[in-house]
Amino acid sequence: MKKKKVAVVFGTRPEAIKMAPVVRELKKQADFFQTIVIVTAQHREMLDQVLDVFNIKPDYDLNVMKQNQTLADITTDVLRGIDKIYLEERPDMVLVHGDTTTSFAAALAAYYHKISIGHVEAGLRTYDPYFPFPEEANRQLIDTITDLYFAPTEAAKQNLLNEGKSRSRIMVTGNTVIDAIHYTSNTKSNHNILDLMKAKADQKWILLTMHRRENHGQPMKNVFEAVIHIADEHPEIEILMPVHLNPKIQLLANEMLGQHERIHLVEPLGVDVFHQIVDQSWVILTDSGGLQEEAPALDVPVLVLRDKTERPEGLEAGTLKVIGTEKNSVIKEVEELLYNLKAYEKMAKALNPYGDGKASQKIIKEIQTYFERSEKLDEIV
Ligand code: UD1
Ligand code: UDP
Repeated sequence: MKKKKVAVVFGTRPEAIKMAPVVRELKKQADFFQTIVIVTAQHREMLDQVLDVFNIKPDYDLNVMKQNQTLADITTDVLRGIDKIYLEERPDMVLVHGDTTTSFAAALAAYYHKISIGHVEAGLRTYDPYFPFPEEANRQLIDTITDLYFAPTEAAKQNLLNEGKSRSRIMVTGNTVIDAIHYTSNTKSNHNILDLMKAKADQKWILLTMHRRENHGQPMKNVFEAVIHIADEHPEIEILMPVHLNPKIQLLANEMLGQHERIHLVEPLGVDVFHQIVDQSWVILTDSGGLQEEAPALDVPVLVLRDKTERPEGLEAGTLKVIGTEKNSVIKEVEELLYNLKAYEKMAKALNPYGDGKASQKIIKEIQTYFERSEKLDEIV
């Protein structure tokens, strides 16, 4: 096979975490692939943290992030910036991930240049365009122009088949987040919050993260009120929140949670440290997508601060419970796990439905097969 140029594009923290293993695996196959890493820096600091941990140096950096950026800002800045890079580099394939606006704009620009698109973590759906917003539309839009679908699970594959996508272009690979966990488990770092958790190892640590657009404002206030109530009522509980750098979230979290002696607010953590913290947490309260996938692999129950999830695998495995954002519901669900040991054990001992940590290898193999097939077809024609 003639050597192919593959551009891997990402811009936010979760995409970086899940694409880093793909980049590392592609680079190992230097005889077959020339790898170009393009970051949009839709996130700046939170992206750079991941690049550091995985030791990845981008070839291009669009540096698009602005304070309080709008969706139109991200879309237009990425589209314009990446268009020039595609023109110059002419990659044979562009790989995008999941459902961010970076991924949507990078895929759209690739389509305009008739470059093949590989979609990692394809096929997740809620079928509600406003939950999560704008991610549900982003991923559906990407999948209308994708050439190769890397579905993390059978359920994701089934969504794509139901939408009429060609079976021959869909591969079930597992989720690359498991590959990332395998990597970070070998690169343990220190952090003073880990020291504090160790010093207070008898306490029950709740890990809290929130950032979704649909939870900004009242839903987030409700959850913070619930968390304050839980900390006040239960001296055995400590709450740790690495606060997303969105200024709206920083402001509200500092204002409402900043003064409590058993609520610990910290800046976003390096993913190597964060995975250790997940592993040592008693329960996770989150609206994050990635955390819903990591927790089953690390045996921690997750109460999902949303009304819907596109990750039914964790529900079926028993690790996740979707609890919404009402104050009383959050309190009730946490207390249920506190008082009902059986319910807790059941959630903590579920099976990881996201694969064996070899998703990136499978993805690269499929890309190779795809190019070999296209070359054969070209020869016939
Ligand atoms: C984005 C993704 C979302 C993903 C989330 C992961 C879209 C539309 N949303 O949402 O799918 O779940 O990332 O975290 O693509 N900021 C910084 N430094 C950083 C990162 C963010 O200062 O390193 C601040 C900036 O002010 C920025 C704001 O956070 O304007 C919001 O970032 P943005 O990427 O627009 O939205 P997220 O909620 O992070
Ligand atoms: N994460 C991290 N540091 C933190 C919080 C989260 O590295 O302080 C990681 C976490 O392990 C997961 C990913 O970030 O892999 C989830 O990102 P986020 O919740 O921002 O986005 P989502 O997954 O909801 O798109």
